[in-house]
Amino acid sequence: MNLDSAIERTLAYHQRTKHHLHQYARSPGFLDWATQPNPFRTYAGAPHIELELLADRVASSYGDLFQLGVIPPQSIGVETIGILFELSLGLSAWKQYEGSRWALRCNPSSGNLHPTEGYLIVPEMPSLTGGVYHYVSRDHSLEHRCLLNQVAHADLPGPLSPNGFLVGLSSIHWREAWKYGERAFRYCQHDVGHAIASVRFASAALGWSARLLDAPGDSEVATLLGLDRDADFADGTAADREHPDVLLLVSNAAPSSLPLYLALRPLSSGTWEGGANPLSPQHVDWPVIDEVAKATWKPETAPMETFRPAALPPLIPSSQVATATLIRQRRSCLALDGKTSISADTFYRMLDSLLPRPGVPPWDVLPWAPRLHLGLFVHRVHGLTPGLYLLERDAAVHERIRPALRNVFLWKRPPGCPEHLRLWCLAESDLRDVSRTVSCSQEIASDGAFSFGMLAEFGNTIRHGGPWWYRRLFWEAGVLGQMLYLEAEAAGLRSTGIGCYFDDVFHDLLGIRTDGFQSLYHFTVGRPVEDTRLTTLGPYSHLKQKKSIPAGP
Ligand SMILES: Cc1cc2nc3c(=O)[nH]c(=O)nc-3n(C[C@H](O)[C@H](O)[C@H](O)COP(=O)(O)O)c2cc1C
Repeated sequence: MNLDSAIERTLAYHQRTKHHLHQYARSPGFLDWATQPNPFRTYAGAPHIELELLADRVASSYGDLFQLGVIPPQSIGVETIGILFELSLGLSAWKQYEGSRWALRCNPSSGNLHPTEGYLIVPEMPSLTGGVYHYVSRDHSLEHRCLLNQVAHADLPGPLSPNGFLVGLSSIHWREAWKYGERAFRYCQHDVGHAIASVRFASAALGWSARLLDAPGDSEVATLLGLDRDADFADGTAADREHPDVLLLVSNAAPSSLPLYLALRPLSSGTWEGGANPLSPQHVDWPVIDEVAKATWKPETAPMETFRPAALPPLIPSSQVATATLIRQRRSCLALDGKTSISADTFYRMLDSLLPRPGVPPWDVLPWAPRLHLGLFVHRVHGLTPGLYLLERDAAVHERIRPALRNVFLWKRPPGCPEHLRLWCLAESDLRDVSRTVSCSQEIASDGAFSFGMLAEFGNTIRHGGPWWYRRLFWEAGVLGQMLYLEAEAAGLRSTGIGCYFDDVFHDLLGIRTDGFQSLYHFTVGRPVEDTRLTTLGPYSHLKQKKSIPAGP
């Protein structure tokens, strides 16, 4: 496929998978429980390493994450790597209702279907044999997929040793397509974004840096993670193959010393172990997902010049709750109370956390400048008139976004808004009904303090940057979502990512007529109403032999 047709197909996929008021994107329309994919991938036959549950030993508080140099870097070893996975992709609880039980994880996922798989690539270290590992969140264990011999060890990128390691992420599209059909590819990308931010927050809790490596191509990532090993995906696993997504370099060196580029060579001389488990007895094909996956397949590219954000006033210190507690208590709200107002300071602090600051997580993990901005429905914020607002996460977007929106908008600065926060009131009105309608009539969008759609600089980014930017824009949306999930918890509130929204209804409201800007994800924040019918169990309560190990005296 040449570049022009890849771009065309990518844009066509986006258009085709929009939900419209009277027509949703194509999906099965019902849940076929007989083919529900297993949410846990395993590689039978690969040697196992059981990790301990040590996250309660993490001393940092949530507020510490955003203050430079406050958390001393921990040494890298099997225990701290275990904590990184426990607090990023690990289980956070089990929920139980009548005869059903389901696991929740630190990273959220559309429909709780969890298409994202996590990998570790480490050099030899005293507490851990070098190689490629697959993380099994259900068991909090690592499967040793590739054992390095000496030749393969020499193939590991130099900067990994002794200060760093790689975390790899991949997606099983079928897990989301089983329920959501054609729109599922979007949700898989959101989930990758949430996982990227989850890894960034967990690494920050250990005093570590992390950075997305933008140069490697998907083929290289697949080879490095062993995803292209056909022999390991035999016996009915063809449709639940993993699509390579991203490599994150994690290091206990300072963020400024992380290399822009790592020479990656396939670990072909290592010994690979284990075969993937089939996830469903049968599959339904969604050819447009395969097509868009192909169209957005990333080639190897030159490393991009890292975006250096301007210095901003430091974030106002927030919750002193232990990071591990806050990360594991993160939940999506199922209902909001429809009455609680939040203070303007809380609102501004939440929005402020979405602006990149040098060396501050999660934004320092992405090497590019912000390409997503928020179109907000403010419902209940003390001192702010309810209405439609816009947050520009980058000053440069103003001259592009203003002409793209309705020319009747007010462009008024809200009272008391910090100067560096580019928040504009566009229209004053009670938009509760509108916001609910836009988000597929979900009441969580109108019953909170505020909700919003994330407006990406869309068409030009994909036409000029390459079709793989389609995935990256969704990743940025997922990072935004993860940041706000934690911010909401820290403020004693709760939030939910909203993948179901009527794309063009939102665009029409704003006056958007071209693909210059497109909404890629919606979100809501407010005071939750708990569902008391559900019972909550500990994240690893199903494993009798695994107990959380608290900090020593
Ligand atoms: C990309 C994405 C889209 C989502 N869309 C919706 C949605 O439209 N409506 C909703 O109620 N929840 C939505 N959720 C919330 C998920 O259902 C929730 O994350 C999942 O059930 C796991 O629960 P947890 O977040 O409490 O761990 C979405 C989550 C993500 C990550």
